[in-house]
Amino acid sequence: QELQINLEQIEKGGYDHFMLKEIYEQPKAINDTYRGRLLRDEAIIKMAGIEDNMKKFLNANRIIIVACGTSWHAGLVAEYIFEDLARIPVEVEYASEFRYRNPVITENDILIAISQSGETADTLAAIKLAKSKGAFVFGVCNVVGSSIARESDAGAYTHAGPEIGVASTKAFTTQITVLSLIALRLARAKGTISSSDYRHHLLELEMIPGKVEEALKSDALIKSISQVYKDSPNFLYLGRGYNFPVALEGALKLKEISYIHAEGYPAAEMKHGPIALIDENMPIVVIATKKGHYEKVVSNIQEIKSRKGKIIGIVTEGDVQVKELADHVIEVPETLEPLTPLLTTIPLQLLSYHIAVMLNKNVDQPRNLAKSVTVE
Ligand code: G6P
Repeated sequence: QELQINLEQIEKGGYDHFMLKEIYEQPKAINDTYRGRLLRDEAIIKMAGIEDNMKKFLNANRIIIVACGTSWHAGLVAEYIFEDLARIPVEVEYASEFRYRNPVITENDILIAISQSGETADTLAAIKLAKSKGAFVFGVCNVVGSSIARESDAGAYTHAGPEIGVASTKAFTTQITVLSLIALRLARAKGTISSSDYRHHLLELEMIPGKVEEALKSDALIKSISQVYKDSPNFLYLGRGYNFPVALEGALKLKEISYIHAEGYPAAEMKHGPIALIDENMPIVVIATKKGHYEKVVSNIQEIKSRKGKIIGIVTEGDVQVKELADHVIEVPETLEPLTPLLTTIPLQLLSYHIAVMLNKNVDQPRNLAKSVTVE
């Protein structure tokens, strides 16, 4: 047993938990994901699974994305990216709902299945259903040779490396990276993005690992904020546009490992319900980066403030407006709007991590959860 403990410590590479190690691995994981695929000098994105099936992608009526858990959140981010950049209609579905609701699927649909493990039973079943109706199935998996990867007609691996912590971190950001590459490649092929915008996106994508590195530097600040709110029974997470799915993911992380009730909402929906929950005891994490409905989110923050909610703002470096209103701000570097989720996710991962550690929870193996859910 002693040997096993030592082995585990070695595997954790000096970190207290796999989750923290995996959070810190993200700069490298994201780099590994686009390496060899993003050739910036030639302004080319090279992915065999896309090139070989370009006709199908260009003729597709729509893309249906199926996934579960954190992978479903990556799917929601992808919906914004695909529609925004490549102008392809996208629907994102929980695999478990999709498979049982007699969905309308045609041969001109493309189904993208996103799964870290590649073994999630509901996602696998959704693929099989779509295939039986003649749809083209594209897998975005992390585990090489997994069932979903094998069952798909084509696919792209995330190359995040093994993810041990049950709460998914680097799998999420690398899924978004792969899906961004695909959206950009298709946008270029369809002509829905200008050549200069395209190059700009490639350049910014290459700068993401360094910017994630920057975002990780807020770790100590986030730890001190965690200390203040660790005993709160509830949290709200708000974001808009590309950062709405990030709000959902932030809330999920907190639920999973600290067992604190948390809800993610699109910031504008606050007035249709969650605002009733706000009082001086409610911490609210608001993603308010410069790009993406900034002014509107600022007015949401004002509404929270007038109800005495405690505001933790995730802002762009150098922000002034939110800083004046919020109780705490955590800065992330600036980037293009479609890439902001890759940065805003980082502080939310760290916040949930520190709170869970302070509450003495089993961070890497939270109660009742499994890394891969192979039963329905
Ligand atoms: C489980 C894990 C989650 C994961 C979800 C989907 O619930 O605990 O972290 O997001 O399954 O897993 P997949 O391997 O399909 O991405």
